[in-house]
Amino acid sequence: MQVIHTLVELRQALAARPLPRTVVPTMGNLHDGHLSLIRQAKALGGTTVATIFVNRLQFLPHEDFDTYPRTLEDDCAKLRAEGCDIVFAPSEADLYPEPQTFRVQPDPAIADMLEGLFRPGFFTGVCTVVMKLLQCVSPTHAIFGQKDYQQLAVIRRMAQQFAMPVAILAGHTQRAEDGLALSSRNQYLDSQARQQATQLAQVLQQIAGKVQAGARDWNLLEQDAIAQLSKAGWEPDYLTVRQRSDLQLPPTRANVLPPLVVLGAARIGGARLIDNFEFDT
Ligand code: PAJ
Repeated sequence: MQVIHTLVELRQALAARPLPRTVVPTMGNLHDGHLSLIRQAKALGGTTVATIFVNRLQFLPHEDFDTYPRTLEDDCAKLRAEGCDIVFAPSEADLYPEPQTFRVQPDPAIADMLEGLFRPGFFTGVCTVVMKLLQCVSPTHAIFGQKDYQQLAVIRRMAQQFAMPVAILAGHTQRAEDGLALSSRNQYLDSQARQQATQLAQVLQQIAGKVQAGARDWNLLEQDAIAQLSKAGWEPDYLTVRQRSDLQLPPTRANVLPPLVVLGAARIGGARLIDNFEFDT
């Protein structure tokens, strides 16, 4: 496995490797969720590239950019064990040698709601770095986790609207045995908050169950779920049923509902967790 820090070396290394070329962009501190995406990439054959870069542009001033865990050596050991071919881990000076004043502004119709509402500018930061990383790697395929459902949707749209020559693939959410979605931010949870953390997935699945049983009042479903989590000590941002296609609210009166997803974000014990489930009615 080659560990590469500069764009010049990356381009040289890539030229010698076979296609297809699949990239898995990450911010490092890798867990089994990330590694499942590497396995999915490996299964496509050709060359598997992981990128590791904690992208300042997608953090708000009060967020955890400075304390975000940076564990390059451990990450490389895990990637080597999976048979990853190339790790591209640029420094900030390598990826942003001059201030990144050109930005990719995503469509507000999909980026200014849900995560974008609670983390303004987040998706501009994500799109800008993903566009740049994909320019650096020139992959045939790029894999993103469904754990970050809206991120995946925004990136899909970006790739489509800019006619980017890359297939965007989705990876299933990997969970701990008790159902908590794996996340680098889970390590911010103390033991009590960790125990409670499964409640987010449970509440989301309850909402899906209610819709399957006929509930159609989307606001009431959200209010009930917010009340339930708040009572248990959470600070919920949103818990909402959306259409998978465009993340808009589904119609209230429809005999047949489109494919749905329930998404949630909530804070507990200093950590902000997000999760989602696709479901059918
Ligand atoms: P990061 O949070 O490191 O996640 C990297 C990739 O791993 C993302 O596509 C994310 O959806 C996926 N992932 C995270 N947890 C997962 C889980 N439990 N199961 C499956 N996949 C999971 O997302 C980012 O980094 C950044 O925003 C990035 C796209 C790299 C741009 O900076």
